[in-house]
Amino acid sequence: MVITMLKIKNLTVTVLDKTILEHFNMEIHAGEIHALMGKNGAGKSTIAKVIMRDPSYKIKSGTIFYQEQNLLEMTTSEAAQSGIFLVNQNPIEIEGVTNAEMLRTSLNDAGKNDMNILEFNRKLVNLCNQLHLPTSFIHRDINFNMSGGEKKKNELLHMWMLEPQCIILDEIDSGLDVDSLKLVANSILEYYNQYKPAILIITHQKNLLDILKPDFVHVLDNKKIVQTGDYQLALDIFKNGFSRTSIISESDQNE
Ligand SMILES: Nc1ncnc2c1ncn2[C@@H]1O[C@H](COP(=O)(O)OP(=O)(O)OP(=O)(O)O)[C@@H](O)[C@H]1O
Ligand SMILES: [Mg+2]
Repeated sequence: MVITMLKIKNLTVTVLDKTILEHFNMEIHAGEIHALMGKNGAGKSTIAKVIMRDPSYKIKSGTIFYQEQNLLEMTTSEAAQSGIFLVNQNPIEIEGVTNAEMLRTSLNDAGKNDMNILEFNRKLVNLCNQLHLPTSFIHRDINFNMSGGEKKKNELLHMWMLEPQCIILDEIDSGLDVDSLKLVANSILEYYNQYKPAILIITHQKNLLDILKPDFVHVLDNKKIVQTGDYQLALDIFKNGFSRTSIISESDQNE
């Protein structure tokens, strides 16, 4: 049975009275990997933050459903508790709250903490080893004073602990060295193979998509999705740029 995880219909979003997205549509089913591409400033991070219920973005019209639930009626923590997970383009630093504290609280709040403290710590140690992070990271403040690449791996640590069903990765590849990029991409692939979540990848780079092989590739331009294709579309864009796609979008508008 096909399970619809995210259904975004006719969404129009403004920030500070500027329209960023208009008549934006997207549907993602469980077990699908989607890539969202588009020029700088097109609105890719905006849709990620809207899904994660960032209150800075005003919804002027349209709907977002997460499974059967009206996502627009949820707060950020309700969205997280119901299984949505976002790795921000610039992961937020939270001074004064450690990874372990946040993860234990989040798992408890979501009613998913079936581990005793020993099992919880053992799982974190294993994950640190897998992600090539020192185990001292377990008790580091969330992303605080971590390097750019460490923050991305630290976010993956959260993902593995929280076991989300719907994952949005906003430029998780930026700032990673070549070895770390492979490690991160393979870790995401392993998670995908184990849990079959819905994944939305926002990226400007080919390397991550080469490993994760998205089922669908969307191009965001002129405030909405102007083209959807398979992995070949991403390869075309990496080769030829967005210009061809922009022409399609202009002719669409004139129709
Ligand atoms: N909180 C905000 N306040 C003001 N302007 C914003 C805000 N968030 C986004 N914008 C503007 O909305 C537009 C879309 O931004 P967004 O970050 O979504 O782009 P993007 O597609 O993710 O670009 P990039 O590829 O560079 O990350 C930009 O012009 C940006 O300046
Ligand atoms: Mg962005």
